[in-house]
Amino acid sequence: MSLFITFEGPEGSGKSTQARRLYERIAGAGYPVILTREPGGTPISENIRRIVLDLGNGEMDSTTEVLLFSAARAQLVAERIRPYLKLGGIVICDRFADATYAYQGFGLGRDLDELRAVTQIATGGLMPDITILIDIPVEIGLSRKRAVAERTAVSPLGPRTPTSGSPEWNRLDAREAVFHERVRGGYQALAAAEPGRWLVLDGRESMDAIATSIWQQIQRRVLAITPLSRS
Ligand SMILES: Nc1ncnc2c1ncn2[C@@H]1O[C@H](COP(=O)(O)OP(=O)(O)O)[C@@H](O)[C@H]1O
Ligand SMILES: [Mg+2]
Repeated sequence: MSLFITFEGPEGSGKSTQARRLYERIAGAGYPVILTREPGGTPISENIRRIVLDLGNGEMDSTTEVLLFSAARAQLVAERIRPYLKLGGIVICDRFADATYAYQGFGLGRDLDELRAVTQIATGGLMPDITILIDIPVEIGLSRKRAVAERTAVSPLGPRTPTSGSPEWNRLDAREAVFHERVRGGYQALAAAEPGRWLVLDGRESMDAIATSIWQQIQRRVLAITPLSRS
């Protein structure tokens, strides 16, 4: 048995924070677990990430965008996720295929059935066992991300604005607010359509409250995995 857990939600909702906390909790309890992210998680996929999130690539066609995300996903699934699940481990992924449906489907208006077909090729049909949606009003999430971008922007020429190249503020973040509203609504619709797989949390709660709630709701399934031997 294995467990594949993904985190989804709008920008700045707390996915990366909670994915790391869950990883630390599970690893600390002695269970085999890896933490990875999309797009990225392998050297090839991280190279694709740079292209797809580069603010300089504003002219990227949405088909190119779909295929690049899918290519990064295919490599991550083949190289890391499938092999680790096969060993009986737990994989936590910061975003996965649902992000394609939310961003390129609901956000950009690409046909969902087409996206499902491409995703099937990329993943070979692999689906998360549990998907955690951290929902948050768009403005709150984006203002958190802007704050991070301002803190991390460093340049010998002085502070940069978040939109001028901080690694924390990318091409997708820079899209207009209505795009992010469609993404948020898309995630809510995806979760409502498949309640058995999704857990929905309110990202406005404290980090501790969210972490506790996630753990309470998935603990039983983690404890069903064979722990690492202590020899
Ligand atoms: N529940 C929370 N309350 C307040 N701030 C939070 C919360 N969760 C995360 N943050 C902060 O918001 C910013 C974005 O969090 P992050 O986990 O990177 O979001 P995401 O990965 O969803 O974009 C970080 O500065 C993080 O410390
Ligand atoms: Mg993140």
